[in-house]
Amino acid sequence: MKILDAEFIKGYIRMANDGWEQGWHERNGGNLTYRIKPEEVESVKENFTYDREWMAIGTSVPTLAGEYFITTGTGKYFRNIILDPESNIGIVEIDEKGENYRIVWGLINGSRPTSELPSHLMNHEVKKEVSGGKHRVIYHAHPANVIAMTFVLPLTDEAFTREIWEMVTECPVVFPEGIGVVPWMVCGGRDIAVETSRLMRKYNVAIWAHHGMFCSGEDFDITFGLMHTVEKAAEIFVKVRSMVPEKRQSITVRNFKDLAKDFGLDLPERFLK
Ligand code: 13P
Ligand code: ZN
Repeated sequence: MKILDAEFIKGYIRMANDGWEQGWHERNGGNLTYRIKPEEVESVKENFTYDREWMAIGTSVPTLAGEYFITTGTGKYFRNIILDPESNIGIVEIDEKGENYRIVWGLINGSRPTSELPSHLMNHEVKKEVSGGKHRVIYHAHPANVIAMTFVLPLTDEAFTREIWEMVTECPVVFPEGIGVVPWMVCGGRDIAVETSRLMRKYNVAIWAHHGMFCSGEDFDITFGLMHTVEKAAEIFVKVRSMVPEKRQSITVRNFKDLAKDFGLDLPERFLK
């Protein structure tokens, strides 16, 4: 099969373009990776070449040994992906130790995977383990309202989870486990990857202070939908704060408990204080 005819590639490109259209990817901002299913690898393998050199990931992800990922390229613009996939995205294979990768398709003319590959792969490793292999998508974007919130609220999981839950009734239904917050750190390296993947053990959303957001999910719809839901709630927060210093009324602890009962949600107590 021609690689661009594969449904998983089409789904990946559509999600990237949807993110661009939402305004979450100025310039080269954001990155997207997908852990390809073995049968999907088989279906497009005739397009792969194995002559490019192995490169260090910059961290160790042994449980991802032998896996294949689609990734955006570093410095590449989401708005260009749909026009020229081969130049802006690529497929990488992880070696048998989980320490190196090589490009087997795309990222032509000497391009490289995203600089956030350590964070993506460490998140994939944790999510593969805790979801029993179900999670396949890690998405990093720069949505303006969530970033704005990181200048206003204390940088704690509790403050962000509670405030964002309160903005839209559906939020605790969509992410009952809550949201993690990483304080400002230098991006693109192993340290921020370690911190983010630690949070991803508990949550499907991690906010990077003054930078953006990471989401994890089983497929493109779920992961894009999660990013969209959190950012929509953050937009409402910004609108409310722009109108008044304090909310006049909101969803109460009692309301959350009633919601949890009817929807069968396990909402952690520490977010309901
Ligand atoms: P890349 O262009 O390397 O993917 O970096 C973009 C980004 O958002 C860094 O956090
Ligand atoms: Zn970023």
